[in-house]
Amino acid sequence: MSTAEFEPFHLELYPETLFQRLREEELFDGSNAPLEIDLGCGDGRFLQSMAEKFPQRNFLGVERLLGRVRKVCRRSDRAGLGNIRALRLETTYAVEWLLPKGSAERVHLLFPDPWPKKKHHKRRLMAQPKFLKSVADLLKEGGEFLFKTDHEEYFEVAKEAVEECPCFEVLDWPEDAFYYAETDFERQWKEAGRHIQGLRLLKVSD
Ligand SMILES: C[S@@+](CC[C@H](N)C(=O)[O-])C[C@H]1O[C@@H](n2cnc3c(N)ncnc32)[C@H](O)[C@@H]1O
Repeated sequence: MSTAEFEPFHLELYPETLFQRLREEELFDGSNAPLEIDLGCGDGRFLQSMAEKFPQRNFLGVERLLGRVRKVCRRSDRAGLGNIRALRLETTYAVEWLLPKGSAERVHLLFPDPWPKKKHHKRRLMAQPKFLKSVADLLKEGGEFLFKTDHEEYFEVAKEAVEECPCFEVLDWPEDAFYYAETDFERQWKEAGRHIQGLRLLKVSD
């Protein structure tokens, strides 16, 4: 393995320690522009389109695969997008222990792995007991959490988790509500004719 694989790219968020919560100003070199966080950002198509459309906002992707994180950074750099960062880390750890509380205007969870086998259901992020509460903690008052999936059963599980969580209220999400970029997986599933469902959740309490 070459040493280059260990050297973070300049758009990679590479915390000095993983054992202390980051401060907001550490995410984007002191910028306090409105923050959006994409959990499981994959190759970053969504992040890039959003960052191009909203240059006055900051977009942080969290992704566990190094190759994808590096792709996000390389593409963003080539596109001259200074308002993107990517963090290589497991989502639940990042949300629960690392990212600053009350920092984000929006958090996105788009086409997360649905873990269809019964023995893997407990790996579903939306089914994990502390997950929604931790996402609410990341959001500012009035912030929103947006979720999309093509997996019907996962969508039902997510709805049940939301009903049990007092932190969020469900808002309408018509297609023309606001600009919302398509993700890589969304494009694939639409081409395959899959039905896509989403939840738009308003934070109403911690
Ligand atoms: C199905 S893909 C969706 C990618 C992207 N959101 C999209 O819609 O195109 C799920 C992504 O989440 C990442 N992922 C899955 N579980 C994760 C976790 N626990 N923490 C961080 N990333 C995760 C995967 O590596 C993958 O890139």
